[in-house]
Amino acid sequence: MPAATAVVLLAAGRGVRMKSARPKVLHEAAGRALVDHVVAAARTFLAGRPGSRLVVVAGAGRDELVPHLARTAPEALVAVQDPPRGTGDAVRVALSALGDAARVVVLAGDVPLLTAASLARLDEALDAGAGIAVLTALLPDAGAYGRVVRDAAGRFERIVEAKDASPEVRALGEINSGIYAFDRELLERELPRLTDANAQKEYYLTDVLGFAVGDGAAVAALPVDDPAEVLGVNSRLELAEVDALLRLRAARAAMAAGATLIRPETITLDEGVTFGSDVVVEPFVSVTGASSVGAGTRIGQGCVIHASTIGANVSVRPYCVLEKAAVGDGAVVGPFARLREGTDLGEGVHVGNFVETKKARLEKGAKANHLTYLGDCRIGERTNVGAGVITCNYDGYGKHFTDVGAGVFIGSDVQLVAPVAVGDGALVGAGSTITKDVPADALATSRVPQKTIEGGGARYRERKTAAKAAGK
Ligand code: UD1
Ligand code: MG
Repeated sequence: MPAATAVVLLAAGRGVRMKSARPKVLHEAAGRALVDHVVAAARTFLAGRPGSRLVVVAGAGRDELVPHLARTAPEALVAVQDPPRGTGDAVRVALSALGDAARVVVLAGDVPLLTAASLARLDEALDAGAGIAVLTALLPDAGAYGRVVRDAAGRFERIVEAKDASPEVRALGEINSGIYAFDRELLERELPRLTDANAQKEYYLTDVLGFAVGDGAAVAALPVDDPAEVLGVNSRLELAEVDALLRLRAARAAMAAGATLIRPETITLDEGVTFGSDVVVEPFVSVTGASSVGAGTRIGQGCVIHASTIGANVSVRPYCVLEKAAVGDGAVVGPFARLREGTDLGEGVHVGNFVETKKARLEKGAKANHLTYLGDCRIGERTNVGAGVITCNYDGYGKHFTDVGAGVFIGSDVQLVAPVAVGDGALVGAGSTITKDVPADALATSRVPQKTIEGGGARYRERKTAAKAAGK
């Protein structure tokens, strides 16, 4: 039976190096707040453990962080640390929220690439008798990270913050990830010993590890296989770096699911976007939010797709923009189409170039191939919407609905002034402005009758040519 475990997620720091009004952990990488990535790893790790709990330590930014967590991690308990007096002080603040936990895993909210598998390794080290386990990484440039100091036999000794380190210690390449598992009793015993006698005048959690070694406890320092996993975000540059790595991870997952990504380095995917097999994604596409792309679908170059559901064997041609749209199997969209919120295209629908749709349901086999605006409407099965058709859905005050039945033919350049309905099988002549309902199978036109003047064009040219010659 696994030990009851609490995860304490530290997120009360000021994040000064971000130069931001927003709490650091709410900055986004791969479409999700940094803290959400860490919460996801913590959740997977805690799943199935009895008495498990998640405690988030929030500080100055809590007015933004707490409502965010209420949405994305409602199970989290919040402990407040204000002012931030160091990572050791932050853990101390969380102690009263730990319940019966016998083990405490401490994470920072700014390490979004962390996986649950690495947390499980810490847990195993405690199972094997360690009092504390910490994830470390070997970095070519250890920068501002705390350094791991080992003795001659390679045993963990202590962690020294870069700012407090001698040149020799700074030269060490093994860094502290800031991710630990503690035996709770040991943690509670050592925490009161912390002082802020250091370069940053902070209570360093890292000092607990050195004290524990001094007291004869075993501390396991475990290097991770992929150092990227423990990258912490402290600056905008580091935010961009972890964003790129997370998106690469998403691209790899898409390829593993059977999607071909053409020049994947140009493609922007959020974590969690799902792909069926034999999808092809052309260069410079972005697919973000809770989006899914069905098997056999092709997404053309330069498309921007957000929070949309795309079926199987769809062709989204280049340079389309889709937001909160649903596209049925076998549909053909674009190039240069814009499907806005609430668009719902049925099976085999065609929406062509320079067509904009919003809250529009196009039923099976309907077509709107050129230069059209369809908003707040239903277009029935097999109906053909000609070039330049516009639903006039807004009267300056409210939105109104247009209902077009099945098998309708709407000629080019028709305005459908909503609210209005066109019945099944009706035909609307090109150039008409439809203000009244058209019954099923009717023919409606609203054109001004055509006037033709024989020879009128030739006479017009003669008059103009003569005037020009006379210098008028
Ligand atoms: C910390 C570690 C360092 C490690 C690095 C890994 C300490 C003293 N140092 O340094 O050894 O290499 O993480 O990324 O622990 N926080 C609070 N309250 C505070 C201070 C910080 O909640 O008073 C939170 C921050 O919001 C952040 C995390 O703790 O999520 C780490 O703080 P940060 O200031 O980024 O520590 P580092 O200097 O990166
Ligand atoms: Mg940090």
